[in-house]
Amino acid sequence: MSTYEYVGLTSPGQLGVAEATIPEPSEGQVLIKVEYSVLGPFDINNLDRQFHVPQYPYVLGIAAAGTVAKVGADRVISTCFPPGNKGFQPYTVQPRNVIAKIPDALSFEKAVTYPDNLVTAYFTLFNQLSLPEPDDWPSKKSPVNNPPILIYGAGATSGQFTLQLLKFAGYTNVVAAASKQHEEYLKSLGASHVVDYRSASFPGDVVEAAGGKVAVVVDCISLPKTFALIKEVVAPGGKVAYLAPFKAESGSMIMVGGEGELLAEAPSSVTSGFPEGVSFFSVKTFLYQQDERLAKTLMPDIVPKLIDIGVQPNRVRLLDHADPLTRVTDAFELLRQNKVSGEKLVVKIGV
Ligand SMILES: NC(=O)c1ccc[n+]([C@@H]2O[C@H](COP(=O)([O-])OP(=O)(O)OC[C@H]3O[C@@H](n4cnc5c(N)ncnc54)[C@H](OP(=O)(O)O)[C@@H]3O)[C@@H](O)[C@H]2O)c1
Repeated sequence: MSTYEYVGLTSPGQLGVAEATIPEPSEGQVLIKVEYSVLGPFDINNLDRQFHVPQYPYVLGIAAAGTVAKVGADRVISTCFPPGNKGFQPYTVQPRNVIAKIPDALSFEKAVTYPDNLVTAYFTLFNQLSLPEPDDWPSKKSPVNNPPILIYGAGATSGQFTLQLLKFAGYTNVVAAASKQHEEYLKSLGASHVVDYRSASFPGDVVEAAGGKVAVVVDCISLPKTFALIKEVVAPGGKVAYLAPFKAESGSMIMVGGEGELLAEAPSSVTSGFPEGVSFFSVKTFLYQQDERLAKTLMPDIVPKLIDIGVQPNRVRLLDHADPLTRVTDAFELLRQNKVSGEKLVVKIGV
């Protein structure tokens, strides 16, 4: 049996090199020779908080791009969501239904930015929030109910895909809360207005931009302070989806040191006091597999279609220097120091 080495978590809080055996795919599975994976907030929670780490050694990376090994040679991307096999290793076995073929002209580095957050954006909008989706993509018309929508944290890579899906689905009143430096880019992705989330006049700015309080919110950051701001701008009866985990008692999305707690649901202390009838949806993307239609079609059919109509990959910060352990260590430092803004950390797997 052949073995390979990968950089992962070797014990709590510890990065290192581990060894594994190249797996044999079973019926309905595919073995991928991985070229690139991604590192982001979920991985740093694995490392610093032992969040969702069932055992050591533990593999990082919730997406992979590479080539199908053994059966044919399709170029593919894959979600690598826990509790299944993960992506940051030279070989990963995945069920066929989480794999999408990619066009020859699309580089692995760019393609690997799609799986995690494009799937998240789609699941959030059209499943969790039950927004009407077009019969065909791209939509030639706006939905009958074209509500004012706020994407809080639209500078995040999840927010950028959310904006793009809304644009291609015909939604035209979409306010993005992000740093002003991203304004032009986010408008090109579909934001009708970009409001600075650090501005003292944030609530008034959002209401003015949307032409009233918003009916739908996607919070890509999920902190007490983001809920406090959203409370000011959401209309009675509105819907708020937020990307789990909720970071209780924390001031920042990447939690450093001992501060805060990661929760599956926002506590009642932060959801109370919202306008009457507001409902909350804690988005856990791996649960999309519980929807039979999405389980079968989201990665194999819908994602390639969305790429085909022009949904853009995230901007890439490529780490392909030195050796894999150095790359991973450097990626986590960038995340901890809050130096990742509007781009995805893409890491080369091989030497
Ligand atoms: N539950 C799930 O299934 C699921 C799936 C995907 C992601 N997530 C979670 O969703 C969150 C975002 O993930 P991601 O991959 O999109 O992150 P990301 O791309 O790494 O997000 C970085 C961006 O966050 C923005 N940001 C940070 N703090 C902010 C604040 N207080 N207000 C507004 N914007 C802020 C910054 O925007 P500016 O540059 O504009 O300052 C920065 O560009 C993470 O907590 C992740 O774990 C959950």
